[in-house]
Amino acid sequence: MINEILNNIAELSQKVMADIKNSTDLNQINDVRVKILGKKGELTAILKQMGRLSAEERPVVGAKANELREAAEKAITERITRLKAQSFEAALINEAMDVTLPGRAHAPGHRHPISQTMADIISNFRRLGFSVQHGPDVEKDYYNFEALNFPPEHPARDMQDTFYIDSDDGNLVLRTHTSPIQIRTMEKTRPPVRIIAPGAVYRSDSDITHSPMFHQIEGLAVDRKITMADLKGLLTEFCRMTFGPNKPLRFRPSFFPFTEPSAEVDIRCVICNGDGCRVCKNTGWLEILGSGMVDPAVFGFVDYDPEEFTGFAFGMGIERIAMLRHGISDIRLFFENDIRFLSQF
Ligand code: PHE
Repeated sequence: MINEILNNIAELSQKVMADIKNSTDLNQINDVRVKILGKKGELTAILKQMGRLSAEERPVVGAKANELREAAEKAITERITRLKAQSFEAALINEAMDVTLPGRAHAPGHRHPISQTMADIISNFRRLGFSVQHGPDVEKDYYNFEALNFPPEHPARDMQDTFYIDSDDGNLVLRTHTSPIQIRTMEKTRPPVRIIAPGAVYRSDSDITHSPMFHQIEGLAVDRKITMADLKGLLTEFCRMTFGPNKPLRFRPSFFPFTEPSAEVDIRCVICNGDGCRVCKNTGWLEILGSGMVDPAVFGFVDYDPEEFTGFAFGMGIERIAMLRHGISDIRLFFENDIRFLSQF
């Protein structure tokens, strides 16, 4: 009898060790434990036969059974540890990431092409000794027109397509140019004056080269002995810095109420290079700025003595210059803010 039981235990021991070794996951191991060592398991079943043994035989079988139980528990614990280590290693391999890969770059925003062009022009004039002034977008008729020598009812006011503003103190406009900053600056300082004044301006006008809101940079220099040659020299240098040394330009006589004499500066059309296209209206030239010697009548409004001081002024459209620099033929692209357009700058 005892030999039969001991044999069963030995067989069971072999089987349980094999089962544990063959388990490939934690559930399987648990099944083995329940099936063999559990209350209704195979070892329990074998031990139930102990009742038929003598008092001397029982401890022998009991010791063997305990041996099996302990060996099995130890093997199970080891197997579990091994399986956990294996699945951890597998995870290390499968979920590995290449820390040497470059990160996903965020596309940082950047300045609008109009702001870029404006900043470039401003820094060029700063290098030439000009400082920066600002004025209000909503302007008094006095500064936008009257002190610039546009008398009331003067036909030159019609050139500007003005937006008028209803107000109790009357006579407010959206400034049609940055020239009012000339007056505001001269009112509060004495010569020498050397300023530029960037800002938005407004005119009721809209097509491929005109927008109801656009930007200008004004320039003003007043001192003793300033001549038209100084103006020409400065603007030629400005064009060289902005468009490169080989871009043809021309000074063309013109008229502004606040400058005398007046000249407009044209630059060779960059779209057609002079052949004629819709942007240059088939002239081969594009106007980039207005300029002239400050009219003595303007000095009268700010109490500068025209016998003592002379000056020049100029004003240019930023959109126009940005279009020329980047070969853009429709001004509206700047204000549609289509990211596919803006991200090219
Ligand atoms: N203010 C003028 C315009 O907008 C440009 C200009 C400025 C002309 C200064 C002469 C001197 O057309």
